[in-house]
Amino acid sequence: MIATAAPTTHAALLDWVQEITHLCQPASVHWCDGSQSEYDRLCATLVEQGTFRKLHEEKHPGCFLALSDPSDVARVEERTFICSKRRQDAGRTNNWQDPSQMKATLRALFAGCMAGRTMYVIPFSMGPLGSPKSIIGVEITDSAYVVVNMRIMARIGTPVLGQLGTDGAFVPCLHSVGRPLAPGAVDVSWPCNPDKYIVHFPEERSIWSFGSGYGGNALLGKKCLALRIASVMARDEGWMAEHMLILGLENPKGEKLYLTGAFPSSCGKTNLSMIIPPAGYEGWKATVVGDDIAWMWPDAEGRLRAINPESGYFGVAPGTSVQSNPNAMAALSKNTIFTNVACTDNGCVWWEGMTEIPPPNLTDWHGQPWTPGQGTAAAHPNSRFTAPAHQCPSIDPHWDDPAGVPISAIIFGGRRPTTMPLVYQAFNWVHGVYMGATMGSETTAAAAGTVGRVRRDPMAMLPFCGYNMGHYFRHWIEMRRLISHLPRIFHVNWFRKSPEGKFLWPGFGQNMRVLEWVFKRCAGSIAGHEKQIGWVPHFEEFNITGMDTFTRADFDAAMAFNPDEWREEIISQGELYLNLYDHIPKELIFQRELLAGRL
Ligand code: GTP
Ligand code: SPV
Ligand code: MN
Repeated sequence: MIATAAPTTHAALLDWVQEITHLCQPASVHWCDGSQSEYDRLCATLVEQGTFRKLHEEKHPGCFLALSDPSDVARVEERTFICSKRRQDAGRTNNWQDPSQMKATLRALFAGCMAGRTMYVIPFSMGPLGSPKSIIGVEITDSAYVVVNMRIMARIGTPVLGQLGTDGAFVPCLHSVGRPLAPGAVDVSWPCNPDKYIVHFPEERSIWSFGSGYGGNALLGKKCLALRIASVMARDEGWMAEHMLILGLENPKGEKLYLTGAFPSSCGKTNLSMIIPPAGYEGWKATVVGDDIAWMWPDAEGRLRAINPESGYFGVAPGTSVQSNPNAMAALSKNTIFTNVACTDNGCVWWEGMTEIPPPNLTDWHGQPWTPGQGTAAAHPNSRFTAPAHQCPSIDPHWDDPAGVPISAIIFGGRRPTTMPLVYQAFNWVHGVYMGATMGSETTAAAAGTVGRVRRDPMAMLPFCGYNMGHYFRHWIEMRRLISHLPRIFHVNWFRKSPEGKFLWPGFGQNMRVLEWVFKRCAGSIAGHEKQIGWVPHFEEFNITGMDTFTRADFDAAMAFNPDEWREEIISQGELYLNLYDHIPKELIFQRELLAGRL
């Protein structure tokens, strides 16, 4: 076996790397230094191996395209496990297996699984390097694609080892595509295994992922560490790890506040985090701190502060265009890795919604010639771009400040074709927690399975909470005692439809109008209107100037309160409550009763 000399004397890390080398039997071991030259070398190797295609050098400088195996295109929630010692600590919304049994299963799968491959050791920091709020992980992987993506999504390499020193704590994250190479065998362009396991050991704080090379299944700093393991640490230490965007808003007077937004996967976090105030909002500024994950804690003044633990965007490509999200288009204009989008014969990317008319001579995400109207999508609905955060033109000056940014509002939202109005505000923190806990949304292509079914997705954390959801609600309620300046809590719905199936709200940049109302509610400069479900805007205090075709009737339709739909809503929340029956905080039981009473 070929091994580069280990660039650390950290005994526990060296032991673990040695143990995994013995278990997985790679052909060689490479410690990642995180340098540009290492990145360039790995990208060149990926091109040689056929995993990457180099894109048009002028149109997409420094960009590559990868096409995955058609069976490996999204997170696999059915194959994701929280292996706490006790089943009830994982709760009924998570898959669970006894940790020692699961370890035995995994050891058998990982034995010899890296044969013929290079094993990469990636030290990484979630959060700015050296910040007391950051968490260090080390990912071992046999995928060079994972290494280059991790270099965009997290701070990796030698500086992280420096931070770790000789005995610093790290989260061991083991990953394999699960496809050993026999001597002389030719590799496929996207190795993976039909048998997949995404496993978390919350007490031990370790992660084992087998069989998938895609996104959150494989880039283990993201959902596995920064949400599932971090949520457990946050519960124990009095902070919060959330599936939230972080956005800065400044009004023409120069008053600035920050808010976070929890929307389920593929429901508009990236879009909202990069919003550009539309015509009529001259003097307003919107800046992005993060588009997917927020870590939040109360500071010495009792204010909730947030950092984005990531350093890149792993964003949904379809629907992203110069009209819908110009900032994302600028962020992905160079040094970006595309996965499962379509491509022209001269190396330009395309996806549904990027332009109205597709360019000629397209190859789809299967690598096959594609013509418009053939009945299949050219880009996979969960195709993604991996782009460096700092390339977004609206990046906030404090986006990588270790002190984080103070949070004034938290917005919940999902894809709700009915029931939920465009915006409403919680009466207080506990009511807001109830709103978040009972959040629903149509399922999307971000996870394997049926798309378009409304399910409860509490705080957009259903697939990402590393412990019992009932305990997680309790943690949210308990955070109130630690925060003296409580953020206001709101619920939004960009996705309500007319009986004819048309969106009732134009969305995207126009969402600024909702943000303006949120801003003013936080600043205390607007009255609001108390309804059964919460505070709502009067038509008169909601800014529609400059919207050509949006009328008062449209506003009323987007805001409509329908008692029959709400009755259904309360009844269907019962399913979630039943799943969590002996762990749900009594405050949330009361909130449901109170709402029923008000209706
Ligand atoms: P993850 O990265 O999966 O966590 O998702 P995300 O929440 O960042 O999703 P993203 O912002 O990439 O949303 C992608 C989808 O939401 C695309 O299909 C967009 O077209 C759609 N979308 C985003 N904002 C809006 C909006 O305001 N209105 C409507 N109708 N669709 C929107
Ligand atoms: C999500 O599914 O919420 C994502 C993409 O942000 S992934 O990293 O694949 O989980
Ligand atoms: Mn996400």
